[in-house]
Amino acid sequence: MSMYEIQGGRPLGGRLRVQGAKNSVLPLLAAALLAPGQSVIHNCPDLSDVSATLDILALLGCRVAREGETVTVDAAALSGSAIPERLMREMRSSVIFLGALLARTGSARLCYPGGCELGPRPIDLHLAALRGLGAEIRENGECLTCTAGRGLRGARIHLPFPSVGATENAMLCACGAQGVTTLVGAAREPEIVDLERFLNKLGARVSGAGTPVVTIEGGHPLHGAEHTVMGDRIVASTWLCACGAAGGEIVLTGVEPSSLDTVLSCLEQAGGELECRGEEIRFRSTKPLRGIPPVHTAPYPGFPTDAQAILMAALAGGRGQTLFVENMFESRYRHVAQLQRLGADIRVWGRSAVVTGCPLYGQRVESTDLRGGAALVVAALGAEGTTQVTQLSHIRRGYQDMEGTLRQLGADIRLLPTNRDTGEDHGICETQPKAKTPPQPAWRAL
Ligand code: EPU
Repeated sequence: MSMYEIQGGRPLGGRLRVQGAKNSVLPLLAAALLAPGQSVIHNCPDLSDVSATLDILALLGCRVAREGETVTVDAAALSGSAIPERLMREMRSSVIFLGALLARTGSARLCYPGGCELGPRPIDLHLAALRGLGAEIRENGECLTCTAGRGLRGARIHLPFPSVGATENAMLCACGAQGVTTLVGAAREPEIVDLERFLNKLGARVSGAGTPVVTIEGGHPLHGAEHTVMGDRIVASTWLCACGAAGGEIVLTGVEPSSLDTVLSCLEQAGGELECRGEEIRFRSTKPLRGIPPVHTAPYPGFPTDAQAILMAALAGGRGQTLFVENMFESRYRHVAQLQRLGADIRVWGRSAVVTGCPLYGQRVESTDLRGGAALVVAALGAEGTTQVTQLSHIRRGYQDMEGTLRQLGADIRLLPTNRDTGEDHGICETQPKAKTPPQPAWRAL
């Protein structure tokens, strides 16, 4: 049990390589299971969600090894097709194994992932797509039993909403189906393109990822392959919003700027200065961010729901008003109450939230979910005084060594035991050099 203690008001500076994308590596690891051979995946971030995925692969009989940022999965000896409830509950996105297991073994058994901190998370679109490919799916209480007794057959599948997970599940399953599958209304996220690249390296024939129509020619023999995970566009957005909140100048590498176009455009409209070259983003923020035109979350290439909380946090400590409209998840404003504890002026009506920038002040706050937790850190970096952020397990699902990365950029952030409420450092989890300059409001320091 630990928490972050953050002294706000220190401008950020420096250069760093952005970690591999969580939302790409999870389907890539599931895809590795399709081929009866060894796959090597580089730039694999060290996250609790990745560890849970590796546990599932090992439990299914794969040989899994990790060395630094490289993970090796040998799925030759795959022996199971059932995922126990404990591992399903640990990570909702393990539903991605359905399509891969069906394609490789003709069966899959797992428990329904249920809702989560973002509100209800149905999987009806996943199941409809798999049924369209010939899977028979029985729902028994909280468990799903899927079989492909009569074999999987390519088909034209129409997704009424471009669900990321359903698109990935259908792509994985279609690799094991005889004939051509056409997915119409597919999600267009960059992570889908990364999955297509890896599937083709495995020997599959997939095209169209990044457009609403993805075509998979199934039934080709697959083999192991080597792949490097794309850079994480939401983590990159987090570091940029952090710099927007605290001020300073940072350079990010290892991420494709076009994958976060909408976030970059918001930060630019808010007064940040941007320069993109190849896989490098330079961002400079010299004055409080200002309000921007309404931000509506939407499927890619729209504004990502995963960046809603972190941009809101950056703007909350700026000046001027911004309207957010959350269209992707029912319950994605849980961070608002915590930002309000820091003094943020945010009003929520259903799916809309109006943020009016004002100075923020340090407080003890609690992460409510992965991106909500990151948002609190962003706000804390621009706030006056000391903020303590608890419930870090949410943040660890998606950010590799957040504290180390932010320290690399000059932030004053420490990892402490949660029970440290006496003002004394006892049993600090790690050491951190004292800040060289006393904390001061961010804008005075520039
Ligand atoms: N939906 C349905 N039925 C379905 C599937 C989805 O109604 O069968 C609804 C969901 O309830 C939600 C919307 O469609 O309201 C979007 O869901 P989608 O399936 O696109 O999301 P996901 O695949 O469950 C991925 C990311 C999320 C990210 C969303 C949207 C992974 C592992 N997760 O989830 O990432 O928010 O796409 O872009 O790729 C995060 O990283 O913090 C995170 C939550």
